[in-house]
Amino acid sequence: MEQELKIPNHIAIILDGNGRWAKKKGLPRTVGHTNGAKALQRTIEACKKFGVKTLTVYGFSTENWSRPKEEVDFLMNLFLNYLTKQSKKLIENKIRFVVLGDKSRFSPEIQNAMKKLESDTKDFTEFTFNVALNYGGHAEIVKATKEIAQDVKDGKISIDDIDEKIFESHLYTHDQLPPDLIIRTSGEQRLSGFLLWQCSYSEFYFPQVHFPDFNEEQLKIAIQEYSKRDRRYGKV
Ligand code: IPE
Ligand code: IPE
Ligand code: MG
Repeated sequence: MEQELKIPNHIAIILDGNGRWAKKKGLPRTVGHTNGAKALQRTIEACKKFGVKTLTVYGFSTENWSRPKEEVDFLMNLFLNYLTKQSKKLIENKIRFVVLGDKSRFSPEIQNAMKKLESDTKDFTEFTFNVALNYGGHAEIVKATKEIAQDVKDGKISIDDIDEKIFESHLYTHDQLPPDLIIRTSGEQRLSGFLLWQCSYSEFYFPQVHFPDFNEEQLKIAIQEYSKRDRRYGKV
């Protein structure tokens, strides 16, 4: 008998291995990124099919700006293309689109496209697609801390009011549940700053597959693995 699948409400994926996928094929890294974007479309569809409610992906970290300029430029073009070309599809499929991260470092064109897509999809409730762009877990925690300090300084709250709920309300993910399952493709077993606050009780899965090869079958394997986990949350 097939094992019963426990469907995670929220899956987060560290999209990794685009460069290695391309290198293995003797292609430039940029081809890996283009194919990673295609795999992302498949992954959104597969998540919806399995009944996952939220997909969060790590698309660009605060550290990724240190890559060669040509690669950063290529990725920026890919994002802009994605934001404009996919917007119709996201709206048709009633997908809420949210950027996690500091938008201000992107070009005005990209920032506008991000804001427009967020605003055009803000009322959809069935499925949320978060993309972490210029995201860093440390940066997010520092941002929350500064905002809370400002609220204390302005007399809006007192120090004793600060609790986990208030802290969470200042994170990019403020109105969302934490990830149940975090997948990092390509075999690397680290977070690279992804959702540091939100991952406290997430389950982790590290498949070898490079992200451009990720598909529905791979997602199913990850969900099967998740289904075997016993989440105790500190209890017995
Ligand atoms: C993930 O693939 C995409 C981004 C970080 C933007 P990589 O580009 O990190 O691919 P590898 O890890 O070098 O293979
Ligand atoms: C993490 O991947 C960031 C994203 C997937 C966007 P990296 O490839 O940048 O991380 P490291 O350098 O291997 O830790
Ligand atoms: Mg990488």
